[in-house]
Amino acid sequence: MPRILEPMQSATAPLDEERHAAALSEHARAFVSAFGPGDPPRIFFAPGRVNLMGAHLDYNGGPVMPTAIDRGTFLAARLRTDRRVVFTSLREAGRQVFELDDLPRERTGSWADYPLGVLLSTLARGRARAAEPERGIEILFGGNLPVGAGLSSSASICVGTALALDALWNLRCAPLDRVASALEAERGFVGVQCGIMDPFAVGLARPGHLLWLDCKDESWEHLPIDFSKLALAVADTGVRRELATGAFNERVAECGRAFEALRQWSPAATCLRDVPLGVLEEHRSALPPAEARRAEHVLNEVQRTFAARDALLAGDPVTFGAAMSVAHLSLRDLFEVSCAELDRLVEDATRVPGVLGSRLTGAGFGGCTVILLERDAEADLRAKLAEGFQSAFGRTPELHFYHGDRGPREVLT
Ligand code: GLA
Repeated sequence: MPRILEPMQSATAPLDEERHAAALSEHARAFVSAFGPGDPPRIFFAPGRVNLMGAHLDYNGGPVMPTAIDRGTFLAARLRTDRRVVFTSLREAGRQVFELDDLPRERTGSWADYPLGVLLSTLARGRARAAEPERGIEILFGGNLPVGAGLSSSASICVGTALALDALWNLRCAPLDRVASALEAERGFVGVQCGIMDPFAVGLARPGHLLWLDCKDESWEHLPIDFSKLALAVADTGVRRELATGAFNERVAECGRAFEALRQWSPAATCLRDVPLGVLEEHRSALPPAEARRAEHVLNEVQRTFAARDALLAGDPVTFGAAMSVAHLSLRDLFEVSCAELDRLVEDATRVPGVLGSRLTGAGFGGCTVILLERDAEADLRAKLAEGFQSAFGRTPELHFYHGDRGPREVLT
C-alpha cells in the first residue's frame, strides 16, 4: 500500500489511499520504461474536484464550495544530470523536451503547455527567492481522472506539476504559491478563460472538508462535512462536447455584458455578484432575455450558496442537498448548460431515498453530475442510475463514490 510522505494537512477522515496502490506502482514502472533505469522516481498525486455549490460564480466574483475527490493526476518525477526538462504522458503522444536555459516564452500548442506554463511561473517564483535549479527534471504524467468530464483535470495536472517541481528542486513553496503557479499557467500561458475555483479546490483540499472560497477577494476557509455518514458520488454521462469551451466562454461574455448593463443602477458593484436581485428585477427589460436569465441564475445562486453554507455549518445536510438540486434546475433552465443525459442522472438520483441532492458539476454541456447522499444509499443509487440511464440512452453511466481526499501529496509506492 502506498505510504503518504508529505500530506499538506493532517488527515482526519477515512480515506481510500489503497484504492490506487496498484495503479501508482504501475505508474512508477511506466516511468522506468519511459526514461530508463537510474534513481527511482518520486511519485506525486494531485486530486480532481467537484463543485457542490456556487455554479458559474467564480468568474462573477461569487462564493463557491468545491471539494477534492480521490481520483486525479499521477506524476513520476526525477532529477536529471543535464539541464533539460522532459515531459511525457501515458495519455498523450509525444515527448516534450525543453532546455532550462532556453525555455519557450510562447505556448507550443501541445498538451505540455500546461506543465510548461507551471514550470515558467514556478521558476519565476523560485528565482524571487534566489533558488536556482541546477539540474533538469523528467516527469511522466498519467492518472485516473477522466479528461474533459468537468472534474478539473487541467488544474490537477498544473497543481501536481507545481508540487513535483517544488519537491525536486526544494523550492519550499507554500500551497498558495502552487495555486498561483497553476492559475498563471492556465490563464496567462495556456490562455483559458477559466475562473479561479479549480486550482484553489485542488491545491487547498483538506480531508473531511469543503473549501469555501469567496472569488471576489480570494478569501477562503475549510468547512467540515461528515464523510463518516455522507458520501459524494460522481456519475459520468460520457458526453464530451467539443463545443464546450466555446459555450463556456460565451457564458463568461454574457455575464460580463449583463454586469456592464446593470452596474449603472448599482454603482458600488464591482462584479455581477454585487448587483442586488431587486436591481435585476426592476431593469430586466434593459437586458436581452438570455443575459437576463444568466444574471438571474448568478444572483440566486449567490444567495443559495450562502444559505447552503449556513445549513452545512448548522449540521443540516438535507437543506444543503436540496440547494444543490435547485441549483441544477437553475443551471438547466436559466443558465442553459445542461443536457438530457445530465438531467436524467439528476432526476433519477433525487428519487432515491437517502440521496440529499444532485446537480451537474463543472461547466456543464455534458461531463458529470455530483450527488450528495447518505452512505447507506450507495447500492440503491447505483442500481437506479444504471437502470434509468440504460433505458433512456442504452448504456450504463460510470459511477464512483468518494469520501474525501487529502489533497496534493507525495506518495511512496
Ligand atoms: C469550469 C471552470 C470553473 C468554473 C466552472 C463552473 O469548470 O473551469 O472555473 O467556472 O466551470 O462553475
